[in-house]
Amino acid sequence: MRGIILAGGSGTRLYPTTLAVSKQLLPVYDKPLVYYPLSVLMLAGIRDVLIISTPRDLPAFQELFHDGSHLGMRIEYAEQSKPRGLAEAFTIGRGFLAGEPCALVLGDNMFHGQDLSRVLWRAREHVERDGGAVVFGYPVRDARAFGVVEFDEKGKVVSIEEKPEHPKSNYAVPGLYFYDSRVSDIAAAVEPSERGELEITSVNNVYLNRGELTVERMGRGMAWLDTGTPEGMLKAAEYVEAVQARQGYYVAAIEEVAFRRGFIGASELRVLGEGMPKTDYGRYLVSIADEAEHNGSVVPKDVNGV
Ligand code: G1P
Repeated sequence: MRGIILAGGSGTRLYPTTLAVSKQLLPVYDKPLVYYPLSVLMLAGIRDVLIISTPRDLPAFQELFHDGSHLGMRIEYAEQSKPRGLAEAFTIGRGFLAGEPCALVLGDNMFHGQDLSRVLWRAREHVERDGGAVVFGYPVRDARAFGVVEFDEKGKVVSIEEKPEHPKSNYAVPGLYFYDSRVSDIAAAVEPSERGELEITSVNNVYLNRGELTVERMGRGMAWLDTGTPEGMLKAAEYVEAVQARQGYYVAAIEEVAFRRGFIGASELRVLGEGMPKTDYGRYLVSIADEAEHNGSVVPKDVNGV
């Protein structure tokens, strides 16, 4: 399975901070925002990732991740020249996907929780085995800013509406989606919405109408954090700081995830940590390499749910 991170947009709700810098490169506590969605793809075992961003911002992402080989990954880049909508990711990414199933994560979506890895593996296996699409439903107090799932009395999904004024449930669809190999063709055929965008919700509705959409509800043990506003960014940073300070385990340390997923070994992890010697982050990576080499094993330990 391949992964796409869509990190475009102009971040207008975070002006003036984003006037010159991509939102997804802003820090959430101690690392760039885009580390969080990248770690989600990695937790799903995905090593091939396409990052899509604006012509202005793409070079900065390339400087951050290069070709991904230091993480045992293959990272490619593509431009979205205009914000024509999320579904365009699959036509821009058609060549990269090469007919494989894929996961799309939005570059500003943060997830954390005990069950996350299991949820991701389940979705991945479902799509690889049975085809179709898997998206998620997450309860929020105000769903109006999101895709919203409507369920019937039996809990069956009836519709997904994009940013409805009167949401039919409080289940928002987070920016994490799993699709089979037909998604590029489906995305190429959707019509722009009233706001002029190729909506991911339109793609999901095609799968729904074919009876091939699964909506997995995420429970209250999962955190899906908002990064849409300055307050959201601050609260997300406080969340990460609180978890890391309390547990000593880092959230979305991509080098650690690469190690625990077996993409790189302990010696490679050590080199990455030693490259950031003045930070707790770097020392954390080195401590994991120490521990693994001391124990003489690289058996993965609990990482964000696995
Ligand atoms: C997009 C999607 C929406 C989804 C949301 C999740 O909204 O269109 O369906 O619920 O991401 O972050 P946008 O970020 O374009 O407002």
